Amino acid sequence: MNKSDFPIFNNNPDLVYLDNSATTQKPQVVIDSIVDFYQNYNSNVHRGIHKLAETATIEFENARGNIAQFVGAKPEEIIFTSGTTESMNILAQILFEHFKDSKGKKTILLSEMEHHSNTLPWMMLAGNLGWNIEYVKLTEEYELNLESLYDAIKKNDVSILSLTHMSNVLGTINNLDAIFSKVKSISPDIFCIGDGAQYVPHHKIDLSNSKSIDFYAFSGHKMMGPTGIGVLYGKKNLLEKLNPSKVGGGMISTVKRNSFTTAELPEKFEAGTPNIAGAIGLSKAVDYLKRQDTLEIEKHMSELTRFTLDELRNIKELTLYGPPVFEKRGPVFSFSIEGIHPHDIAQILDQDNIAIRAGHHCCQILHRETLKIPASARASLYIYNDIENVKRLSNSIKKLITQFKR
Ligand SMILES: Cc1ncc(COP(=O)(O)O)c(C=O)c1O
Repeated sequence: MNKSDFPIFNNNPDLVYLDNSATTQKPQVVIDSIVDFYQNYNSNVHRGIHKLAETATIEFENARGNIAQFVGAKPEEIIFTSGTTESMNILAQILFEHFKDSKGKKTILLSEMEHHSNTLPWMMLAGNLGWNIEYVKLTEEYELNLESLYDAIKKNDVSILSLTHMSNVLGTINNLDAIFSKVKSISPDIFCIGDGAQYVPHHKIDLSNSKSIDFYAFSGHKMMGPTGIGVLYGKKNLLEKLNPSKVGGGMISTVKRNSFTTAELPEKFEAGTPNIAGAIGLSKAVDYLKRQDTLEIEKHMSELTRFTLDELRNIKELTLYGPPVFEKRGPVFSFSIEGIHPHDIAQILDQDNIAIRAGHHCCQILHRETLKIPASARASLYIYNDIENVKRLSNSIKKLITQFKR
């Protein structure tokens, strides 16, 4: 990995970019692939038979194949969406179609660490079906309370369980494979759904080898791809049985006056013109990740995570949220400093050219009910960050604490 692969750092040499959970920077190869599409073979896919349309269709489907292989899925299990949020919304609507005629009040189980994108679609579904929503509590070490999760499965009529693979506030990594396997051993028919928005950019995942993950969502822009492209993965046998929630051009086989039949997977779930340049760009980001030495990147990120934990823990005025053991977390560090509003922290760090985020990070339930604070400051790291970046962060924080004490 070479930082000069990213034009934003060449154009802003002093920038310390620590807002990677929100979105990551893009390497030149990703930017070039988007320009190349629009300049050289811009055309719609799966429609025309002219040369440009054929090239666009081939590149778009190659992108799907490449992204599928990267996450260990079959190409037909990859539905392109605009991102994790849209993936979860589409899935909730698909499951509405599936459950709308079912009887009885069932439960959708989430956790207190979920992002709004993995909360609100389920809230809406529960409202539409007249079902309950339950939230699994966290332990004192900011992990899922697994005992209460399995208890909830035993006690309630749970039909859907949707959990984040890695928290965008706490950095907590949830072992979804193990959790979902256990859940299915208690209640085999539960739909088990993973929010991979924060996990996929950092970790290898093998979806076809996971018997228990039924659906999984992630966003391209959090792994160096463009904005506006993401994935909803679904197990083939499930996608084949379910009906689409979005209809229109591109997803049909035949249309009559009062009825239609659907196309094969994955087109069945992709109504309308997709984000073609986005899919091609995401595939180039996947290629970029594949070219990296995985072991070296893993070593770099775990050293960086351990170093950041130590640096921030050594600032006694700072309260850090998330698991205390570095092996249990990803490189996301949310914190507060008594007497200083998170927005002030972010603004003052920005004056030192350090970009972090402040707010509730789309996790109001977690902030209000678990952390008992309205907002936090968050530094989140990616492969192009280094120890020097973290030292700049901690020095700036120490400086601002001194300024505020005066
Ligand atoms: C855990 C998690 N889930 C879902 C999302 C939503 O992703 P997007 O805005 O790309 O749809 C985010 C974005 O921050 C996230 O961190």
